[in-house]
Amino acid sequence: MKKQTQMENFIRNLPKVELHLHIEGTFEPELMFKIARRNGIKLSYQSVEELKTVYNFSDLQDFLDIYYAGANALQTEQDFYDLTMSYFEKIYRQNVIHTEIMFDPQTHTNRGIPFETIIKGIHRAQKDAEKKFGISSNLIMSFLRNLSAKSAFETLEQASDYKEWITAVGLDSSEIGHPPSKFKDVFKEARKQGYLLVAHAGEEGPPEYVWEALNILEVNRIDHGNRSLEDEKLIAELAARKMPLTVCPLSNVKLRNVEKIENHPIKKMLDYRLMATVNSDDPAYFGGYINENFLAIVRALNLTKEHVFQLVKNAVDASFMNKADKEATSNNLEKYFKQHND
Ligand code: ADE
Ligand code: ZN
Repeated sequence: MKKQTQMENFIRNLPKVELHLHIEGTFEPELMFKIARRNGIKLSYQSVEELKTVYNFSDLQDFLDIYYAGANALQTEQDFYDLTMSYFEKIYRQNVIHTEIMFDPQTHTNRGIPFETIIKGIHRAQKDAEKKFGISSNLIMSFLRNLSAKSAFETLEQASDYKEWITAVGLDSSEIGHPPSKFKDVFKEARKQGYLLVAHAGEEGPPEYVWEALNILEVNRIDHGNRSLEDEKLIAELAARKMPLTVCPLSNVKLRNVEKIENHPIKKMLDYRLMATVNSDDPAYFGGYINENFLAIVRALNLTKEHVFQLVKNAVDASFMNKADKEATSNNLEKYFKQHND
């Protein structure tokens, strides 16, 4: 078999773990039209093809405007179920065995959708996917950082009846001008209540935001973290702490944080011994799910099977699985790698 095809098969068949995924970012245009139609909502575009023409983003905010507009079509518990289930169907075909899904409650509660409608739909799909596909998952509730800390506190309060369904809280949306320190108190309260913590930092924002996420929010993982590479001390700190970075290669190119995939810093991150992982972020908008992200970096950066294995192993180790599941997954992955590394 040709070397290229062999590598592609290796990536496709490898059991994988995804740690950075916005469920609203999996809303494929076809499903968006279907759900909008059944809810009697008129989208601003006439067709799937017309909608796709606007998926050419100049930066994060330009993308977010389109992403939030798309999410407006979601109204009922069944809509959130269908959205989540269709993501699980996709990743089942890509051999993802565990995923940690972010959802943005405020995107929906601020337009009158009850918190319970959102979470019950997502949770039911998680349960069904475990039964049907054997995929385990955790849920991460993300606060929109362009909104106030007070609004984040209200969201934390709304989640209180569903605490056992939510593993961690996160921080996403427009980064610049909204530093992690703005959410110091609500993250402290979330930690007190037993949630694990993640935050987007260093996607567009400066290294200082990554420092704040580490030292003020005391997060367990950094989402993205690319701009950490501008600060040598920060690189050393992230490496010393074995702090996971949930990196999203196709997202970085689509949102123009990296000029082209050949310039992507993920190989550099591994060279610095940073705990980088590969993720799809908003796959319906950025041109691919986890396999497409792996394929893109492997081709552009000439990565080896060892690199790919390290990236997946990092994701297992950085996941919020319980200790026994993590050990079993790690052992299975190692066994798989030994059998297929020829
Ligand atoms: N919400 C969805 N995708 C996001 C991203 N890449 N950065 C910040 N917030 C987001
Ligand atoms: Zn993200």
